[in-house]
Amino acid sequence: MTTIQKHEKYQQATREINAILEGETNMILKMSTINCILRIHLDYYFWVGFYCVNNGGLIVGPYQGTLGCLHISFERGICGRAAKLRETQVIEDVHADPQHIACDSRTNSEIVVPVFNPKGDLIAVFDVDSTETASFDKVDKQYLEQIITQHFELSALQETYI
Ligand code: SME
Repeated sequence: MTTIQKHEKYQQATREINAILEGETNMILKMSTINCILRIHLDYYFWVGFYCVNNGGLIVGPYQGTLGCLHISFERGICGRAAKLRETQVIEDVHADPQHIACDSRTNSEIVVPVFNPKGDLIAVFDVDSTETASFDKVDKQYLEQIITQHFELSALQETYI
């Protein structure tokens, strides 16, 4: 996929997500919709989903793909690092990163974006895996951070799951 195609696909996905989620405040609806629409448009997404902050660690939330690990501590995984540092992690080769947790050995690259609520508290991380090496770059980072910020930090959020 060329960089221009990537921009176009993220722009289309963003328009659809914004239209579908207009006025929605429920976290499950937001998370499930973002997973679904991004995966439809970005065909290199192998696993896409959220790990939610729970009792001082992360537990798997809404996702699409093969079985995800259920619990991840803040001390482990790319997800734990993104949560602890509160910064997006872009990993070109997960096998070169000793902190990586392989929920599925077919994953070769990964991006993890922290998710904040309007108060600035970390509530989750958003994780995408690809079977290709170096699938994710600054274009993915830019659009994913924008989508996540808009729908969790900058809009009304009902912080219960049901
Ligand atoms: N690879 C992640 C674990 C979650 S799975 O990829 C679904 C990590 O290292 O935190």
